[in-house]
Amino acid sequence: MHSAQFAVTLGLGLSGISVADAAAAPHVRDVGAITALSDNDLAANTTTRTTNGILLTPSNFETAAQRCLTLNEELWSPSASNFSLGLDNALSFTAFNSADNGSTTYWISSPDHPESCNAISVDGTVVQQPCTTTAPGLCTNSGPLTQANETFPKPELQVTVQSGKQNITGYRDFYTFQFRGIRFSPTVERFGYASLYEGEGDVDALSWGPGCLQAPEARWPLLDEDCHFLNVWTPYLSPNPTEPTERKKLKAVIIWITGGGNTAGTGTDWEKEGGNLASRGDIVVVSINYRLGNLGFLPFQDGVHNGNYAISDMYTALEWVYKNIENFGGDPERITIWGNSAGAVNVRSLLAIPQAEEMIAGAIMQSGPAETGPDSTPGVRYEAPSFYTNRTEEILSESGCLDTPDPVSCLRDFDASKWWTETDRSPQFNFAVRDNVYLFTRGLPLSGPLAHSHNIPVMYGFLRDEWGYLFPESSNFTASLEYAEAGFKFPLLQLVNSSFSPERDPSWANFTEAEKKKAVFDATSFLSTAAIFKCLPHAFAYSAVKNNVFDAVYEYQFNRTYQPTRWTDLTRIQCGRDNPNPDQIDYYKCHGGEVPYNFGNIAQQGWPERDGYDMPFARLIVDAWSAFVRTGKAGVPEDGYLEARGYLESKAKLEEAGAWTGTSDEAMRLQWTGIGPYSTDEYKIGCDELDMSEDYYETVDFSGDD
Ligand SMILES: *[C@@H]1O[C@H](CO)[C@@H](O)[C@H](O)[C@H]1NC(C)=O
Ligand SMILES: *[C@@H]1O[C@H](CO)[C@@H](O)[C@H](O)[C@H]1NC(C)=O
Ligand SMILES: *[C@@H]1O[C@H](CO)[C@@H](O)[C@H](O)[C@H]1NC(C)=O
Ligand SMILES: *[C@@H]1O[C@H](CO)[C@@H](O)[C@H](O)[C@H]1NC(C)=O
Ligand SMILES: *[C@@H]1O[C@H](CO)[C@@H](O)[C@H](O)[C@H]1NC(C)=O
Ligand SMILES: *[C@@H]1O[C@H](CO)[C@@H](O)[C@H](O)[C@H]1NC(C)=O
Ligand SMILES: *[C@@H]1O[C@H](CO)[C@@H](O)[C@H](O)[C@H]1NC(C)=O
Ligand SMILES: *[C@@H]1O[C@H](CO)[C@@H](O)[C@H](O)[C@H]1NC(C)=O
Ligand SMILES: *[C@@H]1O[C@H](CO)[C@@H](O)[C@H](O)[C@H]1NC(C)=O
Ligand SMILES: *[C@@H]1O[C@H](CO)[C@@H](O)[C@H](O)[C@H]1NC(C)=O
Repeated sequence: MHSAQFAVTLGLGLSGISVADAAAAPHVRDVGAITALSDNDLAANTTTRTTNGILLTPSNFETAAQRCLTLNEELWSPSASNFSLGLDNALSFTAFNSADNGSTTYWISSPDHPESCNAISVDGTVVQQPCTTTAPGLCTNSGPLTQANETFPKPELQVTVQSGKQNITGYRDFYTFQFRGIRFSPTVERFGYASLYEGEGDVDALSWGPGCLQAPEARWPLLDEDCHFLNVWTPYLSPNPTEPTERKKLKAVIIWITGGGNTAGTGTDWEKEGGNLASRGDIVVVSINYRLGNLGFLPFQDGVHNGNYAISDMYTALEWVYKNIENFGGDPERITIWGNSAGAVNVRSLLAIPQAEEMIAGAIMQSGPAETGPDSTPGVRYEAPSFYTNRTEEILSESGCLDTPDPVSCLRDFDASKWWTETDRSPQFNFAVRDNVYLFTRGLPLSGPLAHSHNIPVMYGFLRDEWGYLFPESSNFTASLEYAEAGFKFPLLQLVNSSFSPERDPSWANFTEAEKKKAVFDATSFLSTAAIFKCLPHAFAYSAVKNNVFDAVYEYQFNRTYQPTRWTDLTRIQCGRDNPNPDQIDYYKCHGGEVPYNFGNIAQQGWPERDGYDMPFARLIVDAWSAFVRTGKAGVPEDGYLEARGYLESKAKLEEAGAWTGTSDEAMRLQWTGIGPYSTDEYKIGCDELDMSEDYYETVDFSGDD
């Protein structure tokens, strides 16, 4: 059932496109290491950098020409496309990586000379050299520029790699080699734990695997409980990655763990396709699926089905990446785990798994609510499964399984889609518990005897008005705080009469109704954002740095966002999607609005440039984040990297931004105009009053003893 045949069937079934026999696609072993060369300005189908290519390893001319043909391409020719529209920067970056100081020349298309053949130098000069000399070849790449949500597994673009005992066939586009829908765990029974999949044979990785069961949405047209699939975008493939000289060429890796409240989301969402980040950032991007809601987290009291099935999915996907990613050009020693919202919470859980530690070289947590379970106090997350007896019983009871001899098998027969479609049911169980298999403590230990050094850097930040859309407008501050507090057991109402109350404004009585609403909205947004996204993440940074848990914690705040279209009309206005001048006209910087910049997918989704800075800002964020993945330092690429790639605009902006210290004294304000560090003394405003001061974690008991 877990065989290649299954995957092939899946590929056919999903895309409805007849795919070529995988065995017919060229194997990377037949062509040697290949690099997708491009100059990705993130402008998608409006790019002016329209010349790309594929770089081969050094050989004589004849072999290079043959390898291009094997790839269904030909040697690149200056008469077919313009060197200075992309290949110029791509080759200067190639020279930068090869440390030959640009002395290498590259085979290109040549008329039929018996002895001397054409080659091109880094500056685009065509030279002739003996055809028998050794030089890297430069092939065309007919992989197309694509927009979001496109699939085009044309047989002539396919390429196969071997990983373990599988031959896995993906395809190239203009910028990367992509492999979609790779299985990382065998099919698991409902409420079972994932384990590493080690299949055999030929596998098509040409179309997405199904997302995990959840509410249907256009972004995930196919859902299934059998959803243990991941996707890879890479600029580089090597057939023998473990050879010492090859190992140095492997790219750093990032694994995207989607958000969605742990009840929604997939790794196949077109908003978060990884190709732009991979090619511009020179990293390998992986996205994964994990089980959601009760299917991912519901703990039983039998000591066997302890919840955290989703955590086992993420852990197993990480293990798959650690063991296989070198076959996709990725460096297993440089894996960063990365998530937004619930995805950030999950990253934090993965950091607390002792056996995951050796596989994680860095972590990025974006807009991760402080560790809060609905039944926990802030900052303490993982209670034992038995703590949640009542909640599990509620769900069993609603499903008719409470008083049955074997509740687990009873619930296995339940139609789980009802958990998403029937709205009168109790909330799904959507958070991790202390299962004593993956998680042994009450949270990631940040102080006390359990805190230890992970020897890795992390990034942890939020958006200025993170929560600025999740409550209705009201001129009644008490009602507004009550609403904001309802979902999170955070003490907002205690500040109802404090200096944060707009009603204490001396002019309150004279405010118009609209002014009252705005003042109440602003105060509620400020306090709820502080309580959920700012104070405890900062306290995390403070203790993690103080107690050497992490080498650095790079804090940031986004003050520029671009909200996805799918949010409500009210949100479109409030959260500035249609703001013609986001740098000058202030707006609410709402949850999720930074992610389109992180992936560089604004133009790819066909979104309009608003003020001329959206694209430069996307390039900046991709460059700053990918630098962290490659070097461990946020916003600090390798010396000479930005120049070699021609990313001069980002270079100037990063210089303007200045140091990003990672020491918890300062955070980086991320915007176009006015980018720069600011003192986290700002976090004392609101955080102290919420009893979430920066030393919050210094006195937390992280031990798992009840
Ligand atoms: C190639 O592109 C550059 C930059 O746009 C331009 O100056 C040059 O004329 C182009 N060359 C050809 C042969 O079209
Ligand atoms: C690299 O090339 C530049 C320009 O040709 C030259 O100035 C520099 O000295 C060279 N560096 C090395 C290390 O060879
Ligand atoms: C995305 O692609 C799927 C499958 O091709 C299609 O059903 C869906 O309508 C597309 N969505 C958008 C927004 O283009
Ligand atoms: C993978 O493909 C290569 C080249 O076609 C072949 O030699 C090898 O036996 C295949 N491996 C497996 C496990 O199918
Ligand atoms: C769980 O607790 C709540 C309140 O504490 C109670 O109303 C409910 O009946 C309990 N549910 C079960 C199934 O015991
Ligand atoms: C404001 O809201 C609170 C809580 O909902 C309510 O008790 C109070 O009566 C409201 N005040 C006014 C003036 O409506
Ligand atoms: C706020 O003030 C009102 C009116 O004086 C009082 O009833 C209420 O208890 C106060 N709430 C808090 C949390 O201090
Ligand atoms: C409200 O406006 C009136 C008339 O403009 C003014 O006399 C009064 O001082 C104002 N009250 C406050 C509290 O600002
Ligand atoms: C945040 O951005 C807005 C524009 O959206 C700007 O008016 C404001 O000054 C910025 N805040 C800071 C502290 O730079
Ligand atoms: C680019 O793609 C978008 C869809 O995302 C489409 O609306 C637009 O017409 C395309 N533009 C060009 C120049 O092809």
